[in-house]
Amino acid sequence: MKRLKLDFDGRAVLITGAATGIGRATALAFAAAGAAVLIGDVDARAEHTVRDIIAGGGKAVFQKTDVSDSAQVEALVARAVAEFGSLDMAFNNAGLLPPTAPLAEQTEADWARIMSVDVTGVFLCLKHELAQMNKAGRGVIVNTASVAGLRADPGMAPYVAAKHAVVGLTKAAAIDYATAGIRINAIAPGLVRTPMTERWLNDPEMREKVLADSPIRRAAEPDDIAGLVLFLASDLASVITGAVYPIDGARTAH
Ligand SMILES: NC(=O)c1ccc[n+]([C@@H]2O[C@H](COP(=O)([O-])OP(=O)(O)OC[C@H]3O[C@@H](n4cnc5c(N)ncnc54)[C@H](O)[C@@H]3O)[C@@H](O)[C@H]2O)c1
Repeated sequence: MKRLKLDFDGRAVLITGAATGIGRATALAFAAAGAAVLIGDVDARAEHTVRDIIAGGGKAVFQKTDVSDSAQVEALVARAVAEFGSLDMAFNNAGLLPPTAPLAEQTEADWARIMSVDVTGVFLCLKHELAQMNKAGRGVIVNTASVAGLRADPGMAPYVAAKHAVVGLTKAAAIDYATAGIRINAIAPGLVRTPMTERWLNDPEMREKVLADSPIRRAAEPDDIAGLVLFLASDLASVITGAVYPIDGARTAH
């Protein structure tokens, strides 16, 4: 009988946005499952993630990278190959949340910032990762969308538009590379307790409001999200591509 297990020994994963939150938890989980981890982030606190991985006996490096800058993303992909010999997996997770306001009150500056990181950032990561993976003839990518990529939340028009774009990019890329041995999927988390949402969760009134449409009545922890990313990156998901997985405690179920 074949035993099913997540084992990434000898594989390299590139993760963006792993200084904190979902990216950090996923980086630690990949390392615990044997992967060598390359982190690209604008926040130097990603060094802490690297330090914790190395302290646990894993392999990790950090390269300061702004995902909205094509040359920096290209250099990040090149670093994976130089450092680990291959780029087997990528988790395009870096993202920003704009201030909450009705659409007419959203600023053009916030719109441009969100689009450049949450959409152009994912496009550039896909572009450079796929060029490398296509040469190798294999690879697997997971993008972080959101439940906001599947439906609208009030006061979040730029974020909703950006995450819908991540869903579109995921599907389009999966079709382009379906016969090239490369799988591309997205996760759509509901509310997760990270620095992005701490402000809401620490304010009792706001917390009540944001959990009101959450059937499980709690925020997920970053570790709760990491398992799905690892599963999608693993050989257990070998025919899953072009899919978007809600991981939201039934929020999109009603
Ligand atoms: N927290 C939630 O409830 C939730 C829900 C759905 C989706 N998401 C998405 O999950 C992803 C991770 O967010 P999180 O909740 O862990 O928040 P977070 O703020 O802890 O993590 C975001 C990470 O992205 C990095 N980052 C920001 N701009 C960057 C840039 N230009 N280049 C490189 N790195 C950059 C940050 O430094 C940080 O490490 C985001 O894409 C977010 O939209 C979060």
